[in-house]
This record gives sequence, C-alpha cells and structure tokens, in this order.
Amino acid sequence: MSIFFLNAAPAPALNSLWECVQAPQVSFDALSPIVADLWEQTGTPEALGMDPQECRQIQGALQALNQEAARLSDASGRIQTMNLQPSLQSLASSWPVRFRAPKGHLASGGCSSVRLGYDTDVGEMVTIKAAERAEGVPVSLAVIECLLSQEHWLLEMLQRDRPGAGPRVFRLERIEGKLCMVMEYLHGTELSQLHGSALIHGLKGDADLDRLLDLCRQAVAQVAALHEQGIVHCDVKPENFMYHQQRLRIFDLGIALFEGEKHLSPTGTPVYMAPEVWPHETPAEFSRDVFALGVTLYWLMTGVSPFEADSPGEIARKVMLSDPEPPSEVLLRSRPDLRDELSPTSLANLRAFDRIVMKAFSKVRESRYQNANEMLADLQSRLQVEPLPQEAALFLQDAV
Ligand SMILES: Nc1ncnc2c1ncn2[C@@H]1O[C@H](COP(=O)(O)OP(=O)(O)O)[C@@H](O)[C@H]1O
Ligand SMILES: [Mg+2]
Repeated sequence: MSIFFLNAAPAPALNSLWECVQAPQVSFDALSPIVADLWEQTGTPEALGMDPQECRQIQGALQALNQEAARLSDASGRIQTMNLQPSLQSLASSWPVRFRAPKGHLASGGCSSVRLGYDTDVGEMVTIKAAERAEGVPVSLAVIECLLSQEHWLLEMLQRDRPGAGPRVFRLERIEGKLCMVMEYLHGTELSQLHGSALIHGLKGDADLDRLLDLCRQAVAQVAALHEQGIVHCDVKPENFMYHQQRLRIFDLGIALFEGEKHLSPTGTPVYMAPEVWPHETPAEFSRDVFALGVTLYWLMTGVSPFEADSPGEIARKVMLSDPEPPSEVLLRSRPDLRDELSPTSLANLRAFDRIVMKAFSKVRESRYQNANEMLADLQSRLQVEPLPQEAALFLQDAV
C-alpha cells in the first residue's frame, strides 16, 4: 500500500484534462485543444516541473487517446463524441498518479493541513488531513493528534452505521512523521461558496425555491444522521458541508463530541454558537447543533447571517439579545418581485420556514427542537415541496 501526495499544482492544461475525466460526457472538440496544449507542454518537462519519465508516460496516454478518437470517428472523420468518456477514464488510470488532481493542497488551518493524494490500496483519489500545529495555536500537538484520532473513529462509526453521512474514511496512519487521516475526496463545492446572495438573486419561481428548501432539508438530514449516533458536531456551518455529486455531505468532525461530553473551553465558530455555549463550556447537547443549523438555513435563504458583527463580543451580544427579522421578510425585501412570482403554496412554505428557523435558534434551548431529527420531521411535515429531480445541480452551478 502506498499513498502519493499530489504536491504539484499541475499546469492549467492538466487541470482541464482532469475536468474532462470527471465530466459525465465530453466532446472531442472540447478535448482536442487541451490534448494539443498538453502534448506541447510535456515535450518540455521543465515547463511543468515534471520528471521526464512521467512526461513520456503522459505523452503515451495522449497518443493512445488520439488513436481511440480516430477509431471512434466516422467515415467523414467526425468524432462520435459521447463514447470518449470510458476510454478517457481508462487512460487516466495509467497516468502518473500525481497528475490526476486539480490541485495538491486544499487547506491549512491552525491544527491541520489538508492535501490531496492517491491511495493505491483504495484505488482512488483521497483527502489526507494531517495533524499540524501552526504558530501561536494554544494547544499541544499531542492534543491535536487526539482530536484527529477521535475524528477518525467517529467517521468510521458513521460509515458503518450511517453510510452517506460524512466522507468515507480509510485509515489513520503516520506519513512522513505526521499523524494523518486518509479519507474520501469529496470533489465539489463547499456550501459557503454557494453565495447566499447569488442564490437568492437567482431565484426565479416555485421550482427554484423548492430546490433551495431541499438543500436546507439535506443539511438538516446530515446532522440528524450524526445525532442518531449520539454525536454532537459542535461546528455546524456552511463551510463544513460539501455539495458533492448533487448531495450535501457534512464533514469536519474535528471538535465533535458525544452527547454529554465537554470541551475544556468554549469551542466553535462565534456566529453559529448558541447562547448557552458562550459563558462557559456546558456538556454537549444536540440543541447546540440545532441552533447552528438555524443560522445556516437563515444564511442560505437570505444571504446574510443573523448575528454577524465585527467583534466576538458584539456577536455574543447579538446572539444573546437580538431578535433577527424572519428570513422570508429579508428575502422578500431584497426580492419584492417574488411576492407575485411565487405561488400561494410557496409563500406558505416561506412562512413555515420562518417558524422552523426561528424555533431552531431560539435563545432558550428548551424551546428549540431537541435534536436535528425533530427539526427534520417538522420540516418535512410543514413544507409542501415537490420531490426534486436531479437537475437541482444546475441551479446551484448557476449560483456559484
Ligand atoms: N473529505 C474531503 N474532501 C474534500 N475536501 C476536504 C475534505 N476534508 C476537508 N476538505 C477541505 O479542507 C478544508 C479543511 O478541512 P476541515 O476538516 O474542515 O478542517 P478544519 O478543522 O481545519 O476546518 C475544508 O474546508 C475543505 O475545503
Ligand atoms: Mg472546517
């Protein structure tokens, strides 16, 4: 078994080729300039910062691709476009591993760095989260490693009992001296990158609103799967959901706890932290995730965060004292045209959505839903939303 880190940020032509391999269909017209460009670049390995041997391998793959294209072309020389995808994929599997990724480095935070890799055992691209301590972070590396081990363990449990919630996890091991968790690569867009305001400005009518409500439902369902396993995520926010293969998946269980456990100090992301979490760390309850879900859904519907402010002190004041306007009012103020465009059912859905979100971030935790399953059940019973076809993805892509 071996893991290859994908260190290089490959050249644009390699990125484009990677996109073609990922796409459900690809036309040779779209592909051929990329192939030509890549052919030229691999002729000068230095330009790509590549090993000459690897360049020869890529050239071999490109040549085979051209032959395949010739085989698929009809008498007039035109390419039958749809059929290229399987051969592209099989060619991709013979490329040198470190060139199968759009980028090597995904993110670095205070306690981890996240990179892409290819795992020969699993036979697929993987995400590798390594425990690392950045300058000035007030916890030891030993604590950071414990948190990563716990995250691995929780994801393993989810994978076994709730497949589809969170990324699949493959192993925890030391690589180059660092403790690393190797997991599924969720190739997609973080929910936070689907600009809230772009979403609302893109809303055209009932079908779009239904898609947005379905996205909200998926976010609640992901957290509900965790709660069923007794896990409190403790950092629910749009940055920790990935829109992958037309579904939302929650990830980053780095500070998750079992219900009743406690962090040593208040932990989380300020605008999503429930009032009871601020003064002192209380035992973890599902209702703190419910609060954060309320804030997340509010942002999705309006493009604004109800408790946003310049300093943590001001955020805390707002979380504890302010009563945000219902989300539908914020939405309809910025899109007054929707009052006429939406059907009575959609307008009723919006009012029901208001009540659900406002209940979720109620200041008194006893007044909230006690867990995400309760919230999900209410959402499903109160909103009349048509079951969604796959083209939900189109709307989201338009919005990015
Ligand atoms: N399984 C994954 N697939 C794809 N990208 C991921 C995955 N896990 C993490 N990432 C990327 O790395 C970033 C940081 O990872 P995360 O687990 O959220 O760590 P942190 O605790 O530093 O927020 C994420 O915001 C996301 O962009
Ligand atoms: Mg995160």
